[in-house]
Amino acid sequence: MENKEDLLKKIISHSKEYGFIFPSSEIYDGLSAAYDYGQLGVELKKNIRDYWWKSMVHAHENIHGLDASIFMHPTTWKASGHVDAFNDPLIDNKDSKKRYRADVLLEEFMEKIRGKIKKEVVKAAKRFGESFEEAMFVKTNPRVVKYQEQIKMIEDRMRDCLDSNDLEGIKTLIEELQIADPVSGSRNWTEVRQFNLMFSTELGSLADGASKIYLRPETAQGIFVNFLNVYKSGRAKLPFGIAQTGKAFRNEIIARQFIFRMREFEQMEMQYFVKPGEELKWYEHWKEKRMKWHQALGFGAEAYRFHDHIKLAHYANAACDIEFDFPMGFKELEGIHSRTDFDLKSHEEHSGKKLQYFDHESNTSYVPYVVETSIGLDRMFLAVLTAAYKEEKLEDGSSRTMLKIPAFLAPYKLAILPLVKKDGLPELARKILHDLQLDFHCQYDEKDSIGKRYRRQDAIGTPFAITIDHDSLEDDMVTLRKRDTMEQSRIPISSLRQELSGRISMTDVIRKSL
Ligand code: GAP
Repeated sequence: MENKEDLLKKIISHSKEYGFIFPSSEIYDGLSAAYDYGQLGVELKKNIRDYWWKSMVHAHENIHGLDASIFMHPTTWKASGHVDAFNDPLIDNKDSKKRYRADVLLEEFMEKIRGKIKKEVVKAAKRFGESFEEAMFVKTNPRVVKYQEQIKMIEDRMRDCLDSNDLEGIKTLIEELQIADPVSGSRNWTEVRQFNLMFSTELGSLADGASKIYLRPETAQGIFVNFLNVYKSGRAKLPFGIAQTGKAFRNEIIARQFIFRMREFEQMEMQYFVKPGEELKWYEHWKEKRMKWHQALGFGAEAYRFHDHIKLAHYANAACDIEFDFPMGFKELEGIHSRTDFDLKSHEEHSGKKLQYFDHESNTSYVPYVVETSIGLDRMFLAVLTAAYKEEKLEDGSSRTMLKIPAFLAPYKLAILPLVKKDGLPELARKILHDLQLDFHCQYDEKDSIGKRYRRQDAIGTPFAITIDHDSLEDDMVTLRKRDTMEQSRIPISSLRQELSGRISMTDVIRKSL
């Protein structure tokens, strides 16, 4: 695909044209950073959610599901640290009037230097040919060494400033590096300020003495406050996990790039409660498992990478992201955090309730440690679209746009297409539809030429299509067409169910991912 910027634009317009994603309240010109999932989007989103839920909850006997409410007691957010520390360091450009996260400006600057290192390596590899030793080159080439030292200096200073909340120090660093506004090129920056990301609202009417509550900025706290409930009612034993999916809300200042960063989004989170001291072992375990889960989709290992955090969140003793190669470059798709006992301890202090596990082996009670996996469903949706969107030139000179979505995630699994709208073909086609539609989401389509209908199914990612023709009335066979290869074969109607089951199985993918 040509330019990656173009790819995002194409995905956005394709999503709208075919009913995956619409701008929210579009008839009023939309609301920034809010989107609605259309008739196909809602199916794909549900399938991704199911893939996660089955992999986490059904495939692990010690992981339990939960659906906590969005509104929570306001003290929850005091205890979790969100009231005091859920801030972004923001900086404005005085000329362009654009607002940026100061740490992201610095991260992007470092990424550019990494790009320069890569270029040097590629150049040298060409120059030295077979005898090229990359590790040695990176260690000794003066230019590359200088770049690496610069990255380290920026990382160290950024970490120190963020740790000590030294906002002036961050601004100085941005100025020293002469970082310019990516839009206007201007270096005319304001001070750096902290901005809390939680949305608040009032519970009850003012006359009743309303209290300020927050829309949850993460689903995780619903899990922590239910730790004891699930542990006791589920007779759970360490290590065990609690998983949930649901909406979260953040007043993101820089909400852009389509559904990558929204103000209302959905998370899929799992807290894994472990014995203190074992958390880093489990952190490594979940890092590896989650990467396998992503790679089981078959988009290629090169589309993912780990990014270890320099600045740890206020609750973590180790943290990394799984990054995906989005149209905007490698960005966070999922976070894996070792959250220590921070949350449960803090909820103990604020609630006065004991949130402890009784260990029958050691006959002691303690607050478990937690390893968390947290992925944005909408971001995962964008990752799937990014990897799936293909424009292909065909042998006959024509072209097609296809969504090569893994079959088990596709909104429709099967298109049922009578060749013509007469001669009893629609009746047979509908009979097949009624027989299969509860097992496989099917789309019936009798409008336009068969070629046009195939293209439409390619564009929405339907992995299989069957055509019912006049012969079908005689021999009870149909033509099965595969989206990816466009191969066609005749197949008995009676073996359709088995054929599709063999080719569209979430279970098989999950087994590969475990
Ligand atoms: N409980 C931990 C937590 O919430 P996070 O890294 O802030 O950690 C986890 O968020 C995941 O949620 C991210 O990796 C991302 O996929 C998703 N996410 C976060 N903010 C988002 C936003 N504004 N829009 C869409 N997805 C978001």
